[in-house]
Formats: sequence, structure tokens, C-alpha cells
Amino acid sequence: MLGEDSRVSVVTGGALGIGGAVSRRLAAAGDLVILNDIDADAADRAQADIKAAGGRCVTVIGDIVEDETVSKVVAAAEGRVDVLVNNVGDFRPAAASFQDSTPEQWQRLYELNLLHVFKLTHAVLPAMIERGSGSIVNNSTVEAFRGIPQHPVYAAFNAGVSAFTRSLAVAVGRHGVRVNAIAPDLADTEQTPAEWMRRGYDEGLEHTWVPLARFGEPDDYAAVVAFLASDDARFVTGHTIPVDGGTLAASGWFVRADDQGWTNRPHRA
Ligand SMILES: NC(=O)c1ccc[n+]([C@@H]2O[C@H](COP(=O)([O-])OP(=O)(O)OC[C@H]3O[C@@H](n4cnc5c(N)ncnc54)[C@H](O)[C@@H]3O)[C@@H](O)[C@H]2O)c1
Repeated sequence: MLGEDSRVSVVTGGALGIGGAVSRRLAAAGDLVILNDIDADAADRAQADIKAAGGRCVTVIGDIVEDETVSKVVAAAEGRVDVLVNNVGDFRPAAASFQDSTPEQWQRLYELNLLHVFKLTHAVLPAMIERGSGSIVNNSTVEAFRGIPQHPVYAAFNAGVSAFTRSLAVAVGRHGVRVNAIAPDLADTEQTPAEWMRRGYDEGLEHTWVPLARFGEPDDYAAVVAFLASDDARFVTGHTIPVDGGTLAASGWFVRADDQGWTNRPHRA
């Protein structure tokens, strides 16, 4: 049987970005990784990397919103999932303002950010409960906690991810299943490349908006996912951990570009 002697970890969107780092990190730690992704080429590349590093990885190609893909993931895991990382999420199917957005866009945002989390968790949870152990780590966003004017619908569904995380954790804790989430900000990934985030904002001024003075690398987030999935987090459940370089803590405060302290007021360099 697959993974008889090691953890079986499912990672959705496990080829690129944060999910890509999670797959590689969990496989490097010895997990058999069931890597779901919609991008077959990227999934093949991630699988090749993992195998070249001596790890084990099975790919399941498909849109995780689709029931068929969910069934394929469950089948690939052969009834045992120790770790489920619901990583897929995207802010992009949206207009630049809520007033210009459409119900079709809200629906796709719902599917990509929240519905698949319900679907795959629902499919995997009974076996975790039966085994009396399991760890689920969802990928939310800082925008579940802080306003983002251009993406209120994305923010709402990710607040849903964090609320689901809390409530499910309370419900299933006594069965040995933990449920947590991370809330990333400013990850340099295919979805939000650092160059795009800068958009002409002067290089070298990262310290004015990120207290840790840089954008995040995918493995910065994967490290926290791996911790939450691990036995080191055995008494942690129901939480969404911000992985944001300190932006939520700063919460609207920015270092002045002239280095004369911090400001929470509109500021000219
Ligand atoms: N990048 C950031 O700064 C940031 C900030 C906050 C939250 N997040 C969250 O982190 C998660 C990962 O973000 P990222 O920046 O690494 O994304 P990304 O777009 O760079 O990578 C996403 C991966 O998921 C795959 N994927 C996309 N849609 C899929 C689908 N329907 N089914 C299966 N696979 C699919 C892609 O092919 C890709 O491999 C998302 O939930 C996102 O909302 C990211």
C-alpha cells in the first residue's frame, strides 16, 4: 500500500508558488506527496524535482473544484491522508472594483477560494476521523483580516476559509484531527511576482511597507505549513497564522520614505 511506512500528504495547487514549495518540502521530509495541479507541465516538473531529490510524489492533474478531480485525489491516496493542504486560491477572476464585478466572477472566486476546500476536506475527513489522526492546513490570506479595496469578494471567501478552519477544528479535535491555516502576504510567486507587486515602486523601499524588509519566498510559507502539519504543532488547532513579514502587525503604518520614522498618514517621499 502507498505510504504504509510514512505520511501521505495531499497538496492542492502543489506545482508552483507556495504549493510548489509545500510539496517539495513535505517530500524532502519523507512524505509521500499526492500533488494535485491544474497545470500538467508544472506538475510534471515538480514531480521530477521531488524524485531527483529522492522523494516520492504522485500527480493528479485537474481542476480541484471538479468532483472528478476530488475523487481522483482520494483514489490516489488509497484511503489514507495524514496531511491535507488546501492551497489553491486566486484573486484574479474579478473586475477592478466590486461595482463592476459580475455574479459569474463571484461564483468563480467562490469555487477557487472556498468551495474546493469544503469538497476535498469533506472527502478526506472521514478516513482521518476513523484513523484518529490528521492535520489539515488551509491557505487563507491576510485580506481575511485586513481590507483590500480591489478584492472584497476574494477577501470574503478567504475570511470564510479562516472561519471554516476555526469551527471545523473545534468540531473534530477530539477525533485527533487538527485544522489550521496560514494567511500569506506578499509572496513572490507566479500569481503575484515581486515585479508586479512593485509596479514602479522604487526598489530598495521594501522596508517602508514590510517590517521584515523583503517580499516572501515560497518556502517562507511552506515552512509554516510544514510546522502546522507536524507533530510539533500537536497542541495547535483552529488558528490562522499570518505569514506576512509583519504587515498585519504594522497594519497601516509605513516607514517614511525619508527614513524619519513611521507614519499612518498619506505621505509624499
Ligand atoms: N501570493 C501571495 O502573495 C498570496 C497572498 C495571500 C494568499 N495567497 C494564497 O496562497 C495560495 C497560493 O498562492 P500562490 O501565489 O502560490 O499561487 P500561484 O498562482 O502562484 O500557484 C497556484 C498553483 O495552483 C495551481 N492551480 C490553480 N488553480 C487550480 C485549480 N483550480 N485546481 C488545481 N490547481 C490549481 C496552479 O497551477 C499553481 O501551480 C492561494 O490560496 C492564494 O490565495 C497568496
